[in-house]
Amino acid sequence: MNVHLKIIVDNQAAEGLVAEHGLSMWIEAGGKNILFDAGQGDALEQNAARLGIDLSHADLFVLSHGHYDHTGAVDFVMQESPELQVFAHPGIFKTRYSIYPGKDAKEISMPSEERLIVANLPDSHLHWIQEPTQIAPGVWLTGPIPRVHPLEDTGGPFFEEPEGTTLDPIHDDQALWLETEKGLLVVCGCCHSGLVNTLNHIAAASGHKPIWGIVGGFHLKNASAERLEATAAALREFQPTFLAPCHCTGDAAIDFFRQNLKTEINPGYAGFEIKTDN
Ligand SMILES: [Fe+2]
Ligand SMILES: [Fe+2]
Repeated sequence: MNVHLKIIVDNQAAEGLVAEHGLSMWIEAGGKNILFDAGQGDALEQNAARLGIDLSHADLFVLSHGHYDHTGAVDFVMQESPELQVFAHPGIFKTRYSIYPGKDAKEISMPSEERLIVANLPDSHLHWIQEPTQIAPGVWLTGPIPRVHPLEDTGGPFFEEPEGTTLDPIHDDQALWLETEKGLLVVCGCCHSGLVNTLNHIAAASGHKPIWGIVGGFHLKNASAERLEATAAALREFQPTFLAPCHCTGDAAIDFFRQNLKTEINPGYAGFEIKTDN
């Protein structure tokens, strides 16, 4: 299967495009146009127009998890394309917070207007994903990812209430994979389940097909040296041809991979493209 992926929204952007803390990608695969996440604010609308992407031509809309920086423009997307088929885990509606040392709790949930739009979709257009599921020919969602690796966590100070008593496991986090002619292309949102856990889950669910590339946010900003080394060790086993880390991966993690892996490292940004046919 040929795949053409474009990053529409990212924390970094090519000249002429808007950078925003958020993520959104456009994926043409298996005869479908797939929108993966919706960014945080206006960047999706502005960048899609500049990249020549007509969101009214989207068929499938995947929400990787219920954080504001992946779901902020759901209202705009659904206005553009009201007949979209939406795929997510029901945990996206959860209210949640980040609490950084010395700072007030910040709500980082999916915005309430966007929650209402998704919650009111008819059953025929809303698909709750609870396990590995093929959503189009050769296009799969992981469903919830088992948290097995001892060094992996959600990657930040994420809590279920503003007092910070209960850690938010972000069980709604999921990734997508595409069966391309070059091997699997793995697409992560924030990878709150951990990159190693995500890859192991996909390996088991896909029948251990070789991985061609991995694109998305790996959320390794706060990762320990031990965790980075364990992630690099797993990547040496999986041997992807390239990594396209972006969004919340963190510069230190990208540098670490550059120094410790033979894999090609091409950091992603708004305007970045991946094509199987070049
Ligand atoms: Fe994110
Ligand atoms: Fe996130």
